[in-house]
Amino acid sequence: MTSPDPLSEIAGAAPQRRGFGIDVGGSGIKGAIVDLDTGQLIGERIKLLTPQPATPSAVAKTIAEVVDAFGWTGPLGVTYPGVVTHGIVQTAANVDKTWIGTNARDVISAELNGQHVTVLNDADAAGLAEERYGAGKGHAGLVVLLTFGTGIGSALIHNGTLIPNTEFGHLEVGGREAEQRAASSVKERKGWSYEKWTKQVTRVLVAIENAIWPDLFIAGGGISRKADKWVHLLENRTPVVPAALQNAAGIVGAAMASTTDVTH
Ligand code: BGC
Repeated sequence: MTSPDPLSEIAGAAPQRRGFGIDVGGSGIKGAIVDLDTGQLIGERIKLLTPQPATPSAVAKTIAEVVDAFGWTGPLGVTYPGVVTHGIVQTAANVDKTWIGTNARDVISAELNGQHVTVLNDADAAGLAEERYGAGKGHAGLVVLLTFGTGIGSALIHNGTLIPNTEFGHLEVGGREAEQRAASSVKERKGWSYEKWTKQVTRVLVAIENAIWPDLFIAGGGISRKADKWVHLLENRTPVVPAALQNAAGIVGAAMASTTDVTH
């Protein structure tokens, strides 16, 4: 439980539920306070450069700088771009390999005088946020969010409940890993048109829908900002909608996870 906000009590309004989220990415570590009733950020977000090499202790120190800049002393959620079970990092596809086997929860908490830390996969965080406040709002059933970036991240949510650590980006599709076929970094690297790239995305979506029959796909990641250029080119059968929260989704989902433990 967060403590009531004295200012809103004075004004007679219902106290705001607040959380704090940190989104760890390859280039930046971003944090903000989140209004958990609306999914909006409260005030500015702070972004510091991700230290290189992005080892656990260097990243934990940068996270602590962001948290300290807000004077936040409560529980917080932190995203990580790989599999995390019970706070322990299991994979490091696009980040420093020294993360594997690290208890990220403990390493980060130790830099923060023992503040309670929940660590979850970055796409899982975005999925939680999009499902509650964004493109998945009001959609019951099985929702899959995919983030297209350096790799492909995935979140699987059933009637609001996250099934954590799906790694659809590493599914083998036609003899290749999905993310090597259809991440947006592949489009950039190869100089592909949207037409050419969406053919690969379609193959990935079809592989997922044939396996689990979702009701809705949400397309996230930076390239979802240009959704009008490519979503209509997709030829799979399940509806695809662009993400709505854009680059706040990770922060918002991390803040949500800090109040309900969605990891396993
Ligand atoms: C990782 C996922 C992550 C995604 C986006 C993939 O390579 O395996 O865990 O969500 O990249 O960062």
